[in-house]
Amino acid sequence: MRSDIVLKTELPGLKMLRRGKVRDVYEVQDNLLIIATDRVSAFDVVLPTGIPNKGRTLTQVSLYWFNQTKDIIENHVVAADVEDYPKVLAPFKDILRHRSMLVKKAEPLAIEAIVRGYLSGSGWKEYRKLGSVCGIRLPVGLVESSKLTDPLFTPSTKAEEGHDVNITFEETINIVGKERAERVRDIALGVYSRARDIAERKGIIIADTKMEFGLYQDKLILIDELLTPDSSRFWSAKDYKPGKGQDSFDKQIVRDYLLTLDWDQTYPGPELPEDIVKKTAARYEEILSILTG
Ligand SMILES: Nc1ncnc2c1ncn2[C@@H]1O[C@H](COP(=O)(O)OP(=O)(O)O)[C@@H](O)[C@H]1O
Ligand SMILES: [Mg+2]
Repeated sequence: MRSDIVLKTELPGLKMLRRGKVRDVYEVQDNLLIIATDRVSAFDVVLPTGIPNKGRTLTQVSLYWFNQTKDIIENHVVAADVEDYPKVLAPFKDILRHRSMLVKKAEPLAIEAIVRGYLSGSGWKEYRKLGSVCGIRLPVGLVESSKLTDPLFTPSTKAEEGHDVNITFEETINIVGKERAERVRDIALGVYSRARDIAERKGIIIADTKMEFGLYQDKLILIDELLTPDSSRFWSAKDYKPGKGQDSFDKQIVRDYLLTLDWDQTYPGPELPEDIVKKTAARYEEILSILTG
């Protein structure tokens, strides 16, 4: 794969619907075109420096998992090979290759479906304070990064700005309805368990992951990205030691670097030095090759 950097796309003649933190979304006939750029965000701030190939890696990892789980739940992928894209996209093939997907345009549910197999991040924080995660009581005596007996469905709201907030299952029912909440929970747990087992055979622990669901022609489908280093915590099984935070195959290197600076975690974010960029890019590519290589 090439290693030029794409920070922002502009596709003249196409309607851009949204520029997310990482992805640029365009409307193409009845579908959406989702382009994963090389932007990286940390503490919800998009940094001025990109990570070469990150967008391609995220796209290829998502496609791998969409394919591995398509018998559990229909997903939004229509095409991911630029040769199969509609003619209007032909002028942009070079930008789009390996870093984009043509997808079904869904109506996203207003929750994030998070599944946790291990106690980490905001789950660990809540457990330490309250002994629960998203209102689910857990046994006493768990430590940071403990494996949970059963994976937990721990949804959150989807904040347009700022941080997502963890919610209980009751609150989830209030947002999407009971039947839908139960289906999302069951499917999310099914997808997580499938992926966990596949990753385990490759020496990777999937500590937790975030999925998004949408409605398409009245059906529930899986949208957005799936089981990528941006949406999940991947740990190396051989280095796993409960009782502390684990190294993960994501932008931890970026976060750790930023924490050494005197930066208040608001815009504008600082530039990243070359060695941090290189190490982070290598980390992303490593997880792609472990999973799919
Ligand atoms: N199939 C789909 N239909 C409609 N919206 C989608 C679909 N897949 C992903 N999205 C939306 O596209 C956006 C992707 O951009 P992203 O950079 O991840 O944004 P964010 O900064 O909100 O994380 C998200 O808002 C996601 O909900
Ligand atoms: Mg996102």
